[in-house]
Amino acid sequence: MKIVIGNDHSSVDLKNEIKAYLEEKGYEVLNVGTDTTDSCDYPAYGEKVGRAVVDGAADLGIAICGTGLGISLAANKVKGVRACVCSEPYTARMSRLHNNCNVLCFGARVVGSELAKMIVDEWLNTSFEGGRHQRRVDMIMDIENK
Ligand code: RB5
Repeated sequence: MKIVIGNDHSSVDLKNEIKAYLEEKGYEVLNVGTDTTDSCDYPAYGEKVGRAVVDGAADLGIAICGTGLGISLAANKVKGVRACVCSEPYTARMSRLHNNCNVLCFGARVVGSELAKMIVDEWLNTSFEGGRHQRRVDMIMDIENK
């Protein structure tokens, strides 16, 4: 499975840690984030992560900024993206089970690296449940066409 990962200047260290963690586990990782701490604009990176997922360059995406908020807002503007900010594993699990989240977001100024790894593990190890949740996810996606 291929994971695209993107970040702004707030989260270079955490991005690198998560990237190495994923690679150790055998995931292929596409890095579209900044690799320097020079101030930059998170919307560009949220969009890059979202586009990589929607275009099929990656199966799923992870987007990190200071809070996870700005980069999730940007990723969610890409048609087909369902980005969710998850600061603990329960929400990460539910974002897959019920919402079929395809871009996981969190904040480097909110979660430490060990918690981030638990969030990532829970998210990647959970699949969409479908059923009644499919209808609801379809309703969300239909909003994009109005
Ligand atoms: C950058 O200082 C910060 O605003 C950004 O990383 C993010 O938290 C925005 O939502």
